[in-house]
Formats: sequence, C-alpha cells, structure tokens
Amino acid sequence: MSTLKAVRGTRDLLPAETGLWNRIEATARSVFSRYGFGEIRTPVFEDTALFARGVGEETDIVSKEMYTWEDRARAQSEKTQSLTLRPENTAGVVRAYIEHKLGETGQLQKLYYIGPQFRRERPQRGRYRQFSQIGAEVIGPASSGSESPLRDAEVLEMLASLLDELGISGWVLKLNSVGSASDRPKYIETLRAALMPVVGQMCVDCQRRAETNPLRVLDCKVPEDQPIIDALPKIADSLDADSRAHFAAVCAALDAAGVPYERDHRLVRGLDYYTRTTFEFTHGGLGAQNALLGGGRYDGLSELIGGPKAPGIGFAMGEDRLVLTLQAQEAAKAVLLDTYIAPVGEVQNPAALSLARSLRRSGLSVELGDGAFRVKKSFEAADKVARTIVLFGEDEANSGILTVKDFSTGIQSKIARADLAAALLSSRNK
Ligand code: HAM
Repeated sequence: MSTLKAVRGTRDLLPAETGLWNRIEATARSVFSRYGFGEIRTPVFEDTALFARGVGEETDIVSKEMYTWEDRARAQSEKTQSLTLRPENTAGVVRAYIEHKLGETGQLQKLYYIGPQFRRERPQRGRYRQFSQIGAEVIGPASSGSESPLRDAEVLEMLASLLDELGISGWVLKLNSVGSASDRPKYIETLRAALMPVVGQMCVDCQRRAETNPLRVLDCKVPEDQPIIDALPKIADSLDADSRAHFAAVCAALDAAGVPYERDHRLVRGLDYYTRTTFEFTHGGLGAQNALLGGGRYDGLSELIGGPKAPGIGFAMGEDRLVLTLQAQEAAKAVLLDTYIAPVGEVQNPAALSLARSLRRSGLSVELGDGAFRVKKSFEAADKVARTIVLFGEDEANSGILTVKDFSTGIQSKIARADLAAALLSSRNK
C-alpha cells in the first residue's frame, strides 16, 4: 500500500518549530492588547459570494486560487450552497461586523485574528496552500473616526513596533495610495491607454494582463519589462484632492512618529477592495515571496457585501514568512529548557523526580533524565535541550549541595538545594 503524505502545499509543524510559532503569536497578542485590539474568530469556510463580492471576481485569488465546492443539501429544507475555504480573513471579519451590528455601538472596532487561510497557489518557499495569517482590522462608522489618516499611521506604527519586538530586523515599509473608488477605474483606463503602444515589447504575461487586469502589469518582475513599467503613468497622478490630502496626512504622522517608509508607486495590491492607503512590509531574506505582510484601507468593502458604510483599514502578516525570516536570522535559536536533572544511579530517580517537581512548581522548565543513563550520555542529552544540567548523585542527595553546569559559560558550580530555583531563574535572565 502506498504511504499517505500531507497534501501538496500543506505542512506538519513539529515541536522543534511550534515553539517559535507560539512565541510569535504570544508577542502579537501582547502588542495587539496594548493597542486596544480584541480577538475575533470567524469560520474557516464562508459563502463563496462573500469573496466574489468582497475580494473581487477578477482577482487571481477569486478566479484561480479558491477551494470552492457545492455543499449538498442534507434535508429538503436546505439548499445546495457554494462554499469556499477562506483565502483571506478581511471579508469574513467585515461580514461578522455587519452580521453582529457592531457599527451600532458607534465605537471604532479594533479586531485581530490568527488562523489558517487557503489558496491554491503554486507552492514554493514562503508560499503554501494552507498558510497562517496574523491580521487586524480597524473598522467603524465614519463618526467613529474610522476614515482618519491617523488610524492608518497608528496601524503602521503598531506593525513597525511588532516587527521590532519579534526581533525582525531589516524590514522595509512600502507605502502607496490607490485613491478613492472612482480614482482607480480612472487610472486603469489611463494605464490601459499607455500600455497599448508598448505592450507588444513586453512579456507574454504582461500582454495578457494588459487585456484582463492592467494593474497586475505593475507586479511584473521580468527584468526587460522594468524600464517600460517605470515609464508608465503613476496612480499618484490620478488621485483626487481628498485622497492626496489623506495620503499626505498619513506620511506626516509617520514622519512625526519616526517610522521609516518608502513610497512605492507600483504597490496597487491584488485585492479589489482597497481604497487610498496600501502598504506592504518586505524583507530581503525571503527571496521571491518577499512580502512579510500586506494591507490597506477598504472604505467601501462593507457596502460591497451589503452592509452600512463602514470605512476600515487593516493588514495580514504571513506567519509562515515571519517564521522563515526569524529562522534565517538565527534570532530564533531553539528555546532551551532551564535545566536538565541527571540522576546518577537509578536509586536516585525518586528523589530526582521530587527535585524536578519543586523546580517546575517554581516556574522553571525542566527535563528529567534517568539514573540508568551513564553520566556522559546525560550530559549529551542535556546539552541538546537545556541551558544547564543538575547532577543528582549520592553525594548530592546526602549533602543537599548540587552540582550545576551552565552550558553557555562552561562554568560548573555547587549550589545548595534551597537556592537552586532562584539561581536558575536569575541565570535565565542574563
Ligand atoms: P495578502 O497580501 O493577500 O492580503 O496577504 C497578506 C500576507 O499573507 C502576505 O503578505 C503574505 O505574507 C501572506 N500570504 C499570502 N499568501 C500566502 C501563501 N500562499 N503562503 C504563505 N503566505 C501567504 C490579505 O490577505 C488581506 N486580507 C490583508 C488585509 C487585511 N488588508 C486589509 N486588511
């Protein structure tokens, strides 16, 4: 019988990696709570129409990448329904905002989520068919201040702080404005007209995009096409006065907060709901899939899916890519346990368990060896999983003085049992 494997584009995360995932999620939750965000959990599958209307029929995500199926009726009272595994979470959050009438509170809603998303993309490093996003949305009626450029700047400042806190160095914030709902179609027409005389010299993908979705030409990476793309009209020149002022105010607030950014005229993003501010944080260590996260404003999304006016802004970070970046930086050294207790001789096992119990109850992480192991084997095992080793033989049991070796310094010391927990805790913070 052939062996069964995880489906292409999906992965198992084993304990050697999940520690880092948990640390990233804990840091994100802590930062989000400092900025007044609360968690929202929406279903993993939704009515297909939500994504068709919200994200846009013409986008790659909806037209090519969704996992969609007809869900059969189980009873006469039920209808068959087209369902889709969520390819992103913003549409689901806005649906929930509408369904639970969160706008009626009059308050700005600040919601975050962590969870799996599904896109049938060509798998490669940093691109999977099941991947995890950590995202957040700020949304509310216009009277709650949801349209203010200060909200955009605050979200970006929070992201800069979160990446710094995670220990990700070398990120670049790319910023643009795609203008109002009417600026974008105007620009698409300008772009289509400008592409006409030059598209024949471009790659085949661009020739197709110029017909179907001219904005996607701006994502082309083919080196020969770059001078042509750089000479195309910029969306900045199609913005109305309000959108220009909004963008200038976002930039001014970022300048005041000291958050560095680059203007990227080509950043129009692949989802249709964006208006005004769009952004990505990229990282050079990621290779082709270099976007750590992306987001922007979506002032008309609620109306697109049948809700009241509810301007909003948000982002989603690719958690898989955060993990890759941290691993590559070696900032993510395996999290080591505080200590490994090595009983010397099986007779010491019960007393060693008692010592492990008291250290664990003091908040220390402890691995317990086995007195049947030779001391050399205990040292080798300990060195892989813990910062220190505590030897627990007959002498130690009789004297209450334990031998402790710190692997990072190589120093071996004698510590009274009563002082051991405090000594291990203080060496953890060095
Ligand atoms: P997105 O740019 O499609 O935006 O995805 C956001 C991030 O998810 C990307 O920057 C990337 O890090 C990660 N990502 C996307 N696809 C994959 C994949 N196949 N494998 C691994 N990681 C991936 C959105 O999803 C919007 N909902 C963001 C948003 C929130 N805009 C406003 N609010």
